[in-house]
Amino acid sequence: MSLSKQNIIAQLAQLRVLPILVTDDVEQAIRCVTTLADNGLPAVEITLRTPNAMTVLREVVQACPGVTVGAGTILTPAQLDAVKETGAAFGISPGITPVLAKAAAQSGLPYFPGVGGASDLMLALEHGFDVVKLFPSDLVGGVKMAKALGGPFPDVRFCLTGGVTVESMPTLLQQPNVLCVGGSWMCPAGLIAANDWVAIGALAAAAALAAK
Ligand code: 3PG
Repeated sequence: MSLSKQNIIAQLAQLRVLPILVTDDVEQAIRCVTTLADNGLPAVEITLRTPNAMTVLREVVQACPGVTVGAGTILTPAQLDAVKETGAAFGISPGITPVLAKAAAQSGLPYFPGVGGASDLMLALEHGFDVVKLFPSDLVGGVKMAKALGGPFPDVRFCLTGGVTVESMPTLLQQPNVLCVGGSWMCPAGLIAANDWVAIGALAAAAALAAK
């Protein structure tokens, strides 16, 4: 069942934290996503940063029907089309271009572009995107940038991503126009490689708790 963009935004507003998973291994991806969901985080972004990412996405979508599985690191319209074919619930990009924004607006896939400042945000709004990823959040000003952008753009909401930690997230989430935070710290490559699902579960549970 595909979720509407409003449903996805509502879920992110409730969870307030979006784990980001980078792995090329289908079995490990399924185990990791299941572990995240079992520990209070049933939405995930799987990046396209690995060669096998489309297969990973397709298989996780099939294996984890109760999880909202999105695709990250979408850089081109061709990737957007391929993501849609996998059955992923949504797409995210680290930035925005006129070509990709236009394709995303026409694609029907719930989509969140990345912005680093006001000009990116104006481009996003021209294409109807008012929920965006602020990336890399820690380097472009984080919560201070979100607050500043809230002046000229009062209806925009941000997913702060890049350099967020379980320690920093409660403060970031207090800013009213921050919808959620995203990050890879819940799924470290070393723990995935070690199949340490207990440790990953603990990181997810701690993030879910810090989000409350
Ligand atoms: C991303 O893909 O958005 C980033 O890798 C997230 O940043 P982080 O790794 O610092 O959490």
